[in-house]
Amino acid sequence: MPSFPNNNSPHCTMSHHSKGSSSRKRPARQDIQEQRRALPIASAEKKLVEEVLKNDTLVVIGETGSGKTTQLPQFLHAGGFCERGRIGITQPRRVAAVTVAARVAEEMEVDLGQEVGYSIRFEDTTSAATVIKYLTDGMLLREALLDPLLHNYSVIIVDEAHERTIHTDVLLGLLKAVQKRRKAVKQEPVTETRQFDSSKRTAISKHSENCNQARISHLKLVVMSATLDAEGFSQYFDNARTVYIQGRQYLVDILYTYQPEPDYLDAVLITIFQVHLEEKAGNVLVFLTGQEEIEAVERLLLERSVHLPVGSLKLTVAPIYAALPCNQQMQVFKTTPRGSRKVILATNIAETSVTIPGVCYVIDPGLVKARIFNPRAGVESLSVMPVSKAQALQRSGRAGRERPGKCFRLYTEDTFYKLEDASIPEIKRCNLASVVLQLKALGIDDILCFDFMDKPSSTAIRKSLEHLYILGALTDEGKLSDPLGFQMSRFPVEPLYAKAVIISCEYKCSAEMLGLVAMLSVESIFYQPRGKLEEAKAAKQRFLCADGDHITLVNVLCAYVSEVEKTGNGHVPGKGNSRWCKENFINGRSLRRALDIYRQIERYLPGMGLSTVSCVEEWMLFCRCLTAAFFLNTARRQPDGSYRAMSSGQTVFVHPSSVLFGKKPDCLIYNELVCTTRHYIRNVTRIDSAWLPELASQYFVTKLAA
Ligand code: CDP
Ligand code: MG
Repeated sequence: MPSFPNNNSPHCTMSHHSKGSSSRKRPARQDIQEQRRALPIASAEKKLVEEVLKNDTLVVIGETGSGKTTQLPQFLHAGGFCERGRIGITQPRRVAAVTVAARVAEEMEVDLGQEVGYSIRFEDTTSAATVIKYLTDGMLLREALLDPLLHNYSVIIVDEAHERTIHTDVLLGLLKAVQKRRKAVKQEPVTETRQFDSSKRTAISKHSENCNQARISHLKLVVMSATLDAEGFSQYFDNARTVYIQGRQYLVDILYTYQPEPDYLDAVLITIFQVHLEEKAGNVLVFLTGQEEIEAVERLLLERSVHLPVGSLKLTVAPIYAALPCNQQMQVFKTTPRGSRKVILATNIAETSVTIPGVCYVIDPGLVKARIFNPRAGVESLSVMPVSKAQALQRSGRAGRERPGKCFRLYTEDTFYKLEDASIPEIKRCNLASVVLQLKALGIDDILCFDFMDKPSSTAIRKSLEHLYILGALTDEGKLSDPLGFQMSRFPVEPLYAKAVIISCEYKCSAEMLGLVAMLSVESIFYQPRGKLEEAKAAKQRFLCADGDHITLVNVLCAYVSEVEKTGNGHVPGKGNSRWCKENFINGRSLRRALDIYRQIERYLPGMGLSTVSCVEEWMLFCRCLTAAFFLNTARRQPDGSYRAMSSGQTVFVHPSSVLFGKKPDCLIYNELVCTTRHYIRNVTRIDSAWLPELASQYFVTKLAA
């Protein structure tokens, strides 16, 4: 039970960053243009346009919610910057790209996909008319493969730079180089793209040459950040000029628990109801770690809210996370009707990337899900870990954007002071294989000398080169191999999955492998509500394959596709398919997204001379293909019943959610390592160990001999 000191208690910690006047009130129904004019950034329009004109690179710092992401592109558009190319705004998160583009289209009164559009992995709404383009940082890196000097753009805004995602860091290095080269191209209008020439690229180079002639110009760069550590960015860009946007922040009371919470989800629920019953109107923003958790809390909230006392405010729930369909993402921005309170359940996308109006209360368990990579062992895992102080401050700040608010931290004050000051840039804690492959594909061969803002350790770089070499993407000289490495760099999925899809064509099971990769790209396909555990388990039996989780996942997708075909509902959410999902305890949202991803990846095949073929339930072929693709993730049973991961030597356990949990086959292939109390392997399939030296000879002959 969380116990918070009340406001008058001496334990209450008040934040002291109240700026601006608290007398500012927003009329309930404000015209959208009025809302724009009321944003803190509005008065800086002229100055910002001038600064971008004067400086090739500009660093813009401004508090979250001040209007940077939605307004600056519009200012530059009005200032004539779209005459020689597009304005690109990169976002670390898909949700931000989608929701902000929709908002800006609304503000400019155009249809989304016309002047304003977005492009994220597996979804592109832009057209030839698009001049303001929101895209994920990863997508801009992919565009650079086709257009190395990014000639389509006159301005690139790297937004949310403080998040320091791995793609943002690579992008900063790349943009710095592109900027220099575009300047050079101007004096000497010979295409530089030839440098990347290979027989396969002729068409692309020609395309770029045309662009060169059409619009050679300097590339303007704006780096935007919500935190004050601008110096690093400015220094990296040769002491670039920095502009600060004055924000507005009301007082936020910060309340801690007296004791650590043993069950934070339970504490979340109790705190939500406590706020709902005791506090004035105003929306509640809750930070959770992922889709699964959000969905569980959503269900429990709806279940329990029927017991609210008569006459209390109505409680509505709005989830927001990356995999949520676009139309549902926009729901959180809808105005809350009078007499009701909205509870927004968000991942840390609501920390700085998206600002949701009307939030006065923040509930923060202080956790975040992040990827961590151990370069020595070569293992990457997904872990829930404590946030940094900077993140905790950002989160609490979300409560004080429109009026004074409260933040409930579900941990003790002592714990807060023990948090790290800031999180480590992702590039220093992630598997680099994917970005190294992309840099290689961009013609940057010497990764160790690449101008990173924060250099990853040379061990990490070497490990990723080794990983790509073992997968066959690099030659002995460290160049991209032809065709495998080249093809792998084109697929919009992790190198390991890209390779799986490519080789599955040889194994005559590409339909199943595409399905698997799509299913592995989404979270939580099966759900098991409390109280219906047995029913849910029985439902899963219908799809179960005794060989393991991979085939089971493929079975689910196949069953769904035949259901869609049978009911003739097409790929539409709702209707009969949802009933089917419900009956089978399948997460319909995740499944629909998986099917979308399947179709998206499939489109890449014909261009590479590959095609979709099904093994028609000859599962041996598929399992052999799994072995040939994922041999780096093999685990062998030990005499004590545990498993040992062959590449790292680590002791691992089959995850309880696996169909192989409790069965003890001799040798396994797995896809994911999850670290909680133990190292669990998830998505597991039984294989014949005798296949290893045959299907992954270059790796296992040496490994087994050692
Ligand atoms: O980028 P920054 O954090 O400085 O602010 P922004 O994302 O440009 O947000 C400016 C304003 O637009 C905020 O008041 C948001 O609540 C609002 N907004 C919205 O109402 N709907 C969206 N889909 C996106 C932003
Ligand atoms: Mg922003």
